[in-house]
Amino acid sequence: MTISFDEFVDEAMKILDVNLRGYKIKRVQRRTDSLMRRYNVNNYAQCLEKLKNDSEFREAYLDHFTINTSEFFRNPQSFKYLEENILPVLLADNKVVNIWSAPCSNGSEPYTLAIILTELGYDNSRYRILASDIDVGVLEEAKSGIFNENAIGNVPPLLLKKYFEEIKGISMKYKLSQDIINKVSFEYKDLIKEPYEEGWDLILSRNFFIYLTTEIKEMLTHKFVEVLKPGGYLFLGNTEFIFTPEKFGLKKIHSSFYQKI
Ligand SMILES: C[S@@+](CC[C@H](N)C(=O)[O-])C[C@H]1O[C@@H](n2cnc3c(N)ncnc32)[C@H](O)[C@@H]1O
Repeated sequence: MTISFDEFVDEAMKILDVNLRGYKIKRVQRRTDSLMRRYNVNNYAQCLEKLKNDSEFREAYLDHFTINTSEFFRNPQSFKYLEENILPVLLADNKVVNIWSAPCSNGSEPYTLAIILTELGYDNSRYRILASDIDVGVLEEAKSGIFNENAIGNVPPLLLKKYFEEIKGISMKYKLSQDIINKVSFEYKDLIKEPYEEGWDLILSRNFFIYLTTEIKEMLTHKFVEVLKPGGYLFLGNTEFIFTPEKFGLKKIHSSFYQKI
């Protein structure tokens, strides 16, 4: 039996319980095709059978389809702006500052925040950092606090020395200090399908919108704005833009940063 990619997507969405149509479909097809080549799967019907019956392949598909690339201090200029202009404002009064990294991938992003806040001298009774992702594998990786050298390339040498320890016997692996690990909590969340918790002062949603269709991107922007506190901030990736921020109740305050009006 042969089936089209379109038919494959309809069935795969049911098996995986993931809204594949929320993502740019050409990219989903490219990722599907490359995984099929890797596993010697010849057509979409066979791929569906394997998704149904082979849990290892199912995991590999989800893993391959969600791009997990992340690193500490990704786009350092943006983190500098955050450190100098936004965090001091949020921490100026005595309320607990609520920060959400969504999605967080391997944890490099929320841990970067925890390092910055620690360096600024704020105790973790002053803030809460929640980090979520759809990929259970990367969440486990994040919780382990073990990173390879690709993730730490942008960490300033002094901070590297202070917060990371090279793991002896395993080349190029670094363990993040337990004190920083303890400052972030992780949870599974499908950002397309699930409702969001309310009351955030700062939401980081970086390098995620690039994979989504315009329709889903707009839906998620509305969802994020809804759960931001008035005056709260949305921090996007360097190649992501909201072209008409006012349509969502946002104003652009700096490259990659939007504030809820
Ligand atoms: C490229 S990473 C971005 C990580 C981090 N924000 C950064 O900028 O370095 C994209 C992440 O989105 C996650 N993702 C994809 N679809 C998702 C969904 N529907 N809900 C939650 N996370 C999702 C992937 O698992 C992946 O970890």
